[in-house]
Amino acid sequence: MTAEVQSEPAIPETVRDDFPALAQKINGHPLVYFDNAATTQKPRAVLEAVAKYYEHDNANVHRGIHELSNRATAAYEDARDRVARFLNTPAREDIIFTRGTTEAINLVAATWGAANLSEGDIILLTEMEHHSNLVPWQLLAQRTGARLEFIPVTGDDGLLDLTDLEARLGRAKLLSLAHISNALGTINPVADLCARARAAGVTTCIDAAQSAGHLPLDVQTLGCDFLALSGHKLCGPTGIGVLYARRELQDAMPPYQGGGEMIAKVALETSEYHPPPHKFEAGTPNIAGAVGMSAALDYLDELGRENICVHDTDLANYARDQLESFEGIRIFGPEEERGGLVSFVLKDVHALDLATMADQQGVAIRIGHHCTQPLHDRLGVPATARASFYFYNTRAEVGRFIEVLQNVVQLLR
Ligand SMILES: Cc1ncc(COP(=O)(O)O)c(C=O)c1O
Repeated sequence: MTAEVQSEPAIPETVRDDFPALAQKINGHPLVYFDNAATTQKPRAVLEAVAKYYEHDNANVHRGIHELSNRATAAYEDARDRVARFLNTPAREDIIFTRGTTEAINLVAATWGAANLSEGDIILLTEMEHHSNLVPWQLLAQRTGARLEFIPVTGDDGLLDLTDLEARLGRAKLLSLAHISNALGTINPVADLCARARAAGVTTCIDAAQSAGHLPLDVQTLGCDFLALSGHKLCGPTGIGVLYARRELQDAMPPYQGGGEMIAKVALETSEYHPPPHKFEAGTPNIAGAVGMSAALDYLDELGRENICVHDTDLANYARDQLESFEGIRIFGPEEERGGLVSFVLKDVHALDLATMADQQGVAIRIGHHCTQPLHDRLGVPATARASFYFYNTRAEVGRFIEVLQNVVQLLR
C-alpha cells in the first residue's frame, strides 16, 4: 500500500497573516474579500515601507543637495529599477511612473497618439476593453480624425474572434488590448498578437492591469511597445502605476504634461526637456507610492508569480465548478486560459440584491458593468456579479461564498 502524498499548496495559507485588513469581521462575519480585480489588500511589508519612507526619508526628489532629498531620490529611482526588473525591460529608462493604468494609457494616447495618428488612421481595440482602454482612444479619435475598430468577442465564452485579424492589422496603426479581461477573466494571447502586429508594422499597447500581479510578465517575451499597470492591483498603494514604453518610441514622443521635474532648461517662450523617462513625469511624483509598489513587487516575487497564477486559477476553477450547480446561472468567460475571477448572472436574482445580501454576511463581491459597458451591451446584460480572487484567498472562502449564494437564492426565489 502506498501512502497518499499530499502536495504542498502553491501558496501557504499563512500569507493571510501578512494582511491586517483580512483579519476583520464585517457585519459580524469573517471578511471574505473577493473584490481583488478592483483593488487588492496590502501586506504589512508594503504598509511598513510607506511608513518608513515618511518617517525617515521624506523630501522632494531630484532637487535638493541635502541628505533627505538624496535618500528620497534614491528610493524613488531604486523603485524604477525594481519595476524594470519585474518586467524585464531592456533599460530602466523604459519605466515611466504614472498614477495607474488609466493615466498610463492616457499618456500613450496624448503623446504617441497625437504625434503618430491622423485623419483616417485606425486604432484597433477589442470589445472587451475596460473604459480606461477605450475612452482615451475615443478622445484621441475625436481630436485627430482617427477611427476605432474592434476585434469582436465570440459570446459568453469571452474569447476574441481573431478570424479577420490579419485584415484588421493590415488597416491599423495601433493595437491596444487587455492582457486579462477584468470582466470575463479571459487571458488573451498577447505575445502572439504582438508578434502578428509587429509583422504588420502595427504599434502595440498592453493593458496589464489584471495580469501584472497575477502571472509572470516579461515585456521582451511579450514583444509589446507599451504596457500599462496599476500598483494597487498588485498589493501596492493606490495612486501609483507604470507605463513601460519602448525607448525608441519615447524619444519621438512629445511631453505629456509640463511643469517641474521634466525640464532641463526653461526660458519665457520655450523650454528644453529632460530625456525620457523624466520628460514624462512632470511635477512632484508619488514617491511613497513608488516605494510601496517596489516593496509589493518584492513581496510577490518572494511568493513566486507562477505560484500565484496556479493558486488564482485553482480558486477560479473551483468557484466555477461550484457555481455550475446553480439553476439558471449564466457564467461568462472561457473555461480554459482564464485568470482568477468568475462573472455570472443568476436568473430571477437581481445583482444588487445579491451583492448587498452577500455583504451582510461578510462577503465582498462586485456587481455592475465593471467599467466594460460595451462588453455588457454585447452580452445583452446590464450587470454581472464578479468574484475575483488573489493568492490570500482560500478554497474555504469559496465554499463560504457558495453557501451565502445558496441562502440568497433561497430567499429571493
Ligand atoms: C483591465 C483594466 N484596465 C484598466 C483598469 C484601470 O485601472 P486604474 O483604475 O488602476 O487606472 C482596470 C481597473 O479595474 C482594469 O481592470
